[in-house]
Amino acid sequence: MTDSYKRLLLNNQAWVQDKLALRPDFFTRNSGVQKPEYLWIGCSDSRVPAEEVTGVEPGELFVHRNVANLVVHTDFNMLSVVQYAVEVLKVKHVIVCGHYGCGGVRAAMSRNHLGLINKWLRHLKDIYRLHATELDAMPDEERRYERLIELNVFEQVHHLAELSFVQLAWKREQRPTLHGWIYDIHTGYLKQIAKVDPGHLPHEIFVYEFPDEPGP
Ligand code: CO
Repeated sequence: MTDSYKRLLLNNQAWVQDKLALRPDFFTRNSGVQKPEYLWIGCSDSRVPAEEVTGVEPGELFVHRNVANLVVHTDFNMLSVVQYAVEVLKVKHVIVCGHYGCGGVRAAMSRNHLGLINKWLRHLKDIYRLHATELDAMPDEERRYERLIELNVFEQVHHLAELSFVQLAWKREQRPTLHGWIYDIHTGYLKQIAKVDPGHLPHEIFVYEFPDEPGP
């Protein structure tokens, strides 16, 4: 039995001391109400730590992570996070961040039977099918893999724009802006690949009417 976990607890003690040395009120200042400006929807991958790659402090980023950074309309976990972030925290920006080298996307491109997670990865296979003409025409498998990672981020940003509470916030308060980013695990850099400004509605089949709302 390894007790490697103890390193984490020791690290925590050192981290507290470091923070207090820099700013004695670090924790008392942070123990009030949170007011993050950003919601981050990222992959669970251990190599993509949201706060670290964006250089922000505790309190600045509201975070949801799942395998392959998916926005699935029946996922009440993700939906609760987004609704709370948009309606209560009133975040100004929502960032969907995928990453090159994503194991979830790699697995979805294979035909491996992986048990329960097959169901989750099915969403990625759907995206492959939506873009099969483009993807099947790419002879280089690595490039096709990277392209599916990018297309997945586009599709998840689009899914956010399809949410009624995002559309309502756009109408009432002209926020949040939606972003699609890719983190390159080989270089550490983030790349912007999509930006959807408030009011940029998706196809009309997804646009909700809010009968009790006064006009814009
Ligand atoms: Co991943």
